[in-house]
Amino acid sequence: MGADSSGGIVYLNGEFLPAAEARVPVLDRGFIFGDGVYEVVPVYGRAPFRWDQHRARLARSLSRIRIADPMEGEGWRELVDALVARHPWDDQFVYLQVTRGVARRDHAFPADVAPTVFAMSSPLAPVPAELVERGVAAITLPDERWLNCDVKSTSLLGNVLAKQAAVDAGAFECVMFRDGLLTEGASSNIWVVSEGRVLAPPPDRRILRGVRYELLESLATDEGLPFELRPVTRAEVDAADELMLTSATREVLPITRLDGRPVGGGTPGPVFRRLHAAYQRAKAAGRAAR
Ligand code: PDD
Repeated sequence: MGADSSGGIVYLNGEFLPAAEARVPVLDRGFIFGDGVYEVVPVYGRAPFRWDQHRARLARSLSRIRIADPMEGEGWRELVDALVARHPWDDQFVYLQVTRGVARRDHAFPADVAPTVFAMSSPLAPVPAELVERGVAAITLPDERWLNCDVKSTSLLGNVLAKQAAVDAGAFECVMFRDGLLTEGASSNIWVVSEGRVLAPPPDRRILRGVRYELLESLATDEGLPFELRPVTRAEVDAADELMLTSATREVLPITRLDGRPVGGGTPGPVFRRLHAAYQRAKAAGRAAR
């Protein structure tokens, strides 16, 4: 089996081994409780993109669920570089996961348990041009998840059900609201363009602060686009000139249909085009800086 079909080489608790041979005990709390956190890091030209921000978010997620960071100093970076070097693709996305470890089933934290550390990498295909040129469809949904969405937790049932509702409706993503205010997508952050301003909700516990939050702010600022983090109402989303989503693997994409209706003119708008071009330049600079 080639690296592609087998899942390639993964890292598990200090060892690199073929994915098909990697085993986690059934009593791992990641399996039993979803008691863990993760990261998804895009890698362009073998260089992790916005690495410091992903590393810092992993540290925050671990600290929020009270798992001691299992790697010190450059440990995570060395692991990512070693994993990337074991695969043939220049562009990859690396998945990192830490669970609380293996213990007899009991909701309370076990004493003295070693966390399970897992990492894998997959080829990162270019975002299909059609998605960029035509945009994607989304549906709106009430946000029914818990109130610690700032933790990048492997407990993703709420996100999984929301994404499936979008897929069942023939859409690509959902746009969720809590108490009448925009939160985020099932696996992306959501951006509203209104009268030339780029708006997004403040990153509090109701959303995951995407690594693209800071990136979009700096790209918008460089482009001279007014940028504001503040609560965004359902009415503002419905009246948006443009809607966009961002994520590690989808970069920035235009949402051109919401609940079956066109957003703005129903085609990718000028603010999206500028931010998308700026994003591509940031990626190219990341590759070149390696
Ligand atoms: N998800 N919000 C949620 C709920 C997410 O799952 C993601 C990304 C984001 C965007 O964060 P970032 O810009 O750091 O990728 C926002 C990843 C890609 C995933 O779970 O696969």
